Amino acid sequence: SAAEKGGHDYFMLKEIEEQPEALANTLRGHFDHGRIVLDEQRMSDQDLRDVDKVFVVACGTAYHSGLIAKYAIEHWTRLPVEVELASEFRYRDPVLDRDTLVVAISQSGETADTLEAVRHARGQKARVLAICNTNGAQIPRESDAVLYTHAGPEVGVAATKTFTSQIAANYLVGLALAQARGTKYPDEVAREFAELEAMPAAVQKALSTVDRVRELGRRMADSKAVLFLGRHVGFPVALEGALKLKELAYMHAEGFAAGELKHGPIALIESGLPVVVVMPSPKGRAVLHAKLVSNISEIQARGARTIVIAEEGDDTVRPFADELVEVPAVPTLLQPLVSSVPLQVLAAEIARTRGYDVDKPRNLAKSVTVE
Ligand code: AGP
Repeated sequence: SAAEKGGHDYFMLKEIEEQPEALANTLRGHFDHGRIVLDEQRMSDQDLRDVDKVFVVACGTAYHSGLIAKYAIEHWTRLPVEVELASEFRYRDPVLDRDTLVVAISQSGETADTLEAVRHARGQKARVLAICNTNGAQIPRESDAVLYTHAGPEVGVAATKTFTSQIAANYLVGLALAQARGTKYPDEVAREFAELEAMPAAVQKALSTVDRVRELGRRMADSKAVLFLGRHVGFPVALEGALKLKELAYMHAEGFAAGELKHGPIALIESGLPVVVVMPSPKGRAVLHAKLVSNISEIQARGARTIVIAEEGDDTVRPFADELVEVPAVPTLLQPLVSSVPLQVLAAEIARTRGYDVDKPRNLAKSVTVE
């Protein structure tokens, strides 16, 4: 009923709007007396100090959260991080041992490929930490340790609040590793955590774009295809934006690393093709920003219709944006938390305009327990 959906047309929109709360709940209690505490985690500081390599395994949207985590965890810890689709990892011979930390990310905790990846890793003595949204599910039960996201139940088949909560949980793991290994000073860990804690408010501000993006989605609903471009942490955000559009609107959508444009994808650009660009902050990583501005000018010159997700007040990008969606300024590594919001709304509204059931897309199940 409409009441269950909090007055919205579909659950997904309610769940998109629950993201500030989901993030706050996921972070709550994990910083105490100046230290990151992962009490559900059952891994000692010594265990974390011994880690010399991290593997992240997951499927779908959870995999995208892992791709984002790699930028943060490598930057903070100086540990090598590999991120792999569980369905690939489980059938190959990855290099693991008891000092490898495998982070298995799964909203449901029941995904067959991710569960088998956990078994594959444990069979080689690696230690497995599950990031999961479902208490007592199979993946956490078979893992050495668990860190729960507290996003609450997610009804929409398309993951939204669990995705951003996974990003936050991954970052907690990264900070716990940095703290244990001493690659960050305690005051730096405290500062990073404080930045994370400011994210529910930033995401709340990003939600002020909902009406504007819904209107944009209605105008884009008859597009044949949509491309998504990003760099750095904006690249997995682009992949996730494209996945949302495929699964909900049944539209051809691809995410690309903007630096790959000239290596192929630019051949797809034609007059009127919508291209969604996830801009980095002009203040944070000036080089990245300049590169993306030049990418946008190239695709615009070839007739693409540019839909630009950019930081508030980013005036340099304005001339290149046919449509501009402004999100609040946040540190570079945290940008996926705000820039994902308009992409979620865009996919849902395009789907609704095309007459599809946003909460129950065709052919998809909420959890893939049979591969
Ligand atoms: C998300 O929108 C998808 N429906 C799907 O990719 C999902 O993220 C994937 O199946 C993994 O599910 P899990 O997190 O429950 O393991």
